Amino acid sequence: MRIAVVGTGYVGLVTGTCLANVGVTVTCVDIDKEKIQKLNEGIIPIYEPGLEELVRKNTSQNRLSFTTSLKDSLKGADAVFIAVGTPPNEDGSADLQYVLAVAEEIGKSINDYIVIVTKSTVPIGTSKKVSEVVQKSLNSRDVKVDFDVASNPEFLREGNAVQDFLQPERVIVGTDSERAKKVLKRLYRPFIESNHPVLFMDIFSAEMTKYAANAMLATRISFMNEIANLCEEVGANVDNVRKGIGSDSRIGSKFLFPGAGYGGSCFPKDVKALVRTADEFGISLEVLKAVEDVNYKQKQVLFYKIKEHFNGNLEGIKIALWGLAFKANTDDMREASSLVLIDLLTKAGAEVVVYDPVAMDECRKRIGNKVDYAKGQYEALEGADALVVITEWDEFRVPKFTYIEKRLKNKLIFDGRNLYEPAIMNEFGYTYYSIGRKEVKA
Ligand code: UDX
Repeated sequence: MRIAVVGTGYVGLVTGTCLANVGVTVTCVDIDKEKIQKLNEGIIPIYEPGLEELVRKNTSQNRLSFTTSLKDSLKGADAVFIAVGTPPNEDGSADLQYVLAVAEEIGKSINDYIVIVTKSTVPIGTSKKVSEVVQKSLNSRDVKVDFDVASNPEFLREGNAVQDFLQPERVIVGTDSERAKKVLKRLYRPFIESNHPVLFMDIFSAEMTKYAANAMLATRISFMNEIANLCEEVGANVDNVRKGIGSDSRIGSKFLFPGAGYGGSCFPKDVKALVRTADEFGISLEVLKAVEDVNYKQKQVLFYKIKEHFNGNLEGIKIALWGLAFKANTDDMREASSLVLIDLLTKAGAEVVVYDPVAMDECRKRIGNKVDYAKGQYEALEGADALVVITEWDEFRVPKFTYIEKRLKNKLIFDGRNLYEPAIMNEFGYTYYSIGRKEVKA
């Protein structure tokens, strides 16, 4: 089996590498020469646990290679995966120019039957558009080549992508052709053999499944964030409520953690895109609109807690911020709650010192010297009025509280991820604010 994967971003690189790892011969393609050169040397452009080792292993065993030539990669390929970016337009719709440009190139290059698989998260109906563009491109060459399109959305979590790909809870394959189905069944055989569900369905349903899954998960988070905010008011503890409702197997215990709002490259973009698609069909998705709204407000919750604590005046207050990435185990700061908090704090006159185990460079690129960068998590605390935790990195979970006390001006912590036990914070003599649990006053 031989495939090409176009786009060596996060999705393409993980897909190509993991499929090579189960025995497929994979050529990954990108227009970025420097990136391809680095990948050929085994240097990967993103932070993703386990990926670099896998790239090196599979390139050394000649199952994985990188090139800038799409045409070369398609020679003898059974399938080509389109995994290029679909950045959001200003109105929230997905910008399909890169996907369709690749489709056009594929049409210009193929001479034998191939299955063209959309892997990027794309609006419902995109596979059909891809098919039209490829056909048009073939027509302009005045040749007749058979091809099929398919949709194979990814469900990878950043920081867990390799594991998610190799041990999937399910693989979704949308095709409207028996021939394409046969090819993709062969490709995913190792997964079928090891009892991972590979669900074949029509293309529209596959495209819809991706959005519905992310929208459902985002809904759970916004729902829990609202419940958490209410818990604080009524004096309940959201941890207890979360465990209480999560024990109902119809609800399940995962993805019920309240916090400082969801971020990342998927949830915010996909919720917006689905709302927009529905609008185009004259349907208003009220629940999802509220999900977005709640998330927008939730990203500000910590700021208002801090402001209230300092009686509305943050001028000259120094805040140490632990965490920048939108979640742990990634350097990704797209739609990160930290960015909203930093913006509000600095606008209110506070000074912010940040520390993140891997996202410091990413932060510098985004906001430069709007904040100070600390060498380590404890260095960030030197002379600060309060510690604010916004990303759930493991190294923040069990900190040395004696180190914290030595450096902070006040024993004061705002915790946007509920990493610490209020009772213990009380015992240690901290003033401690978290999400959905009563504040602890020293
Ligand atoms: C998500 C989906 O999980 C994945 O299937 C899809 O392919 C892409 O989008 P990802 O964006 O990598 O993956 O992160 P995820 O771990 O799902 O977290 C998303 C956001 O939700 C983060 O900001 C996280 O902090 C937040 N979150 C998650 C919560 O606030 N509470 C939770 O209980 C879980």
